[in-house]
Amino acid sequence: MEFKKRILVTGGAGFIGSHLVRLLLEKYPEYLIVNFDKLTYAGNLENLKDIEHKSNYRFVKGDITDVEAVKNAFNEYNISDVIHLAAESHVDRSIEGPMDFVMTNVVGTVNLLQCARDHWKGGKDHIFHHVSTDEVYGSLGETGLFMETTPYDPRSPYSASKASSDHFVQAFYHTYGLPIKMSNCSNNYGSHQFPEKLIPLMINNIVNEKPLPVYGTGANIRDWLWVVDHAIAIDEIFHKGRLGESYNVGGLNEWTNLDLVHYLCDLMDKKLGRSEGASRQLITFVTDRKGHDMRYAIDASKIEKELGWKPSVTFEQGLDLTVDWYLNNQDWIDSITSGEYATYYRNMYEER
Ligand code: NAD
Ligand code: TYD
Repeated sequence: MEFKKRILVTGGAGFIGSHLVRLLLEKYPEYLIVNFDKLTYAGNLENLKDIEHKSNYRFVKGDITDVEAVKNAFNEYNISDVIHLAAESHVDRSIEGPMDFVMTNVVGTVNLLQCARDHWKGGKDHIFHHVSTDEVYGSLGETGLFMETTPYDPRSPYSASKASSDHFVQAFYHTYGLPIKMSNCSNNYGSHQFPEKLIPLMINNIVNEKPLPVYGTGANIRDWLWVVDHAIAIDEIFHKGRLGESYNVGGLNEWTNLDLVHYLCDLMDKKLGRSEGASRQLITFVTDRKGHDMRYAIDASKIEKELGWKPSVTFEQGLDLTVDWYLNNQDWIDSITSGEYATYYRNMYEER
């Protein structure tokens, strides 16, 4: 079969990547989807078990910093487009060790850009969609929202590496005319998220009646979006967004960390048949994250006006689905919270 597009999705075995791969495979049987992933601690082929048999799906185990591996994938599948999600994605890990973030997020992105440029040879019928974060804009005070025009002001090693990769993507557009698009999204939540991130970590600890580590006073604010709505936004931008443009994606859904943890405790007490207030007793205030950004919040009016995108579920609906997924997939959690992660988590927690 001649495929209409042959899309290289990097990081497709991760949290957001696996949701995007599933959406693309189901919606576009006429596209070949090549999932290129190194399978770091955060990548898990179990995330794609339900769709790996599809005839338009291929998996390549590879590192985006490896020039030959990326070139080979472009050649073997005659890649027409890239949607780039592969990254080191956890702020706390970037504080402990920034170099992996520089390698994958910066060097890996530039390598992909180079390979795309070499393979497409100036052709315009291609798209390189770079998936980024709102954290590149820095930290907000009590008011205001991040717009696409907000100056970059990254403050953690993670956000500095993502900001750098964004700049390289724009540089390839302006210097070489590489056909790029970008999206900068707020915090995602949903099924298959590695339980080092706030929401799955809290769900897992509530289930196991372990302490719930809230950094500082819990007053920091994040703007939460259901991962499926992010995947839908990427699909819209990839197909209909303007070349060279970036689009902010967010949920208009700001919560302080403490309010969110309270909400999860109460929701799960009901689902688990525990007495009212039981899980709140597990909350433990721990030493704050170094350089902890105070508030993130997105102005998503550009994508809404230009592409008609808006979140499809409320936070309450999305969280309900998410908690149910974790409760019904305890094996998934158990398989990744043993071994290396268990040691990492214990060390992190003991340090605080
Ligand atoms: P994740 O950590 O769950 O997954 C990352 C994936 O990339 C994993 O499958 C991993 O194996 C793969 N990977 C890492 N290094 C690689 C390398 N050198 N070569 C090939 N593959 C490699 O991350 P996520 O939360 O799904 O985030 C995906 C993307 O979306 C990232 O670029 C992140 O910056 C961005 N983003 C995430 C959020 C969020 O809330 N999680 C919000 C906005 C943007
Ligand atoms: P996180 O999920 O790591 O995402 P990000 O740092 O990229 O926003 O953290 C979300 C918020 O939750 C952030 O303000 C830090 C806080 N947090 C805790 O209070 N306790 C935790 O155990 C974790 C992982 C995060």
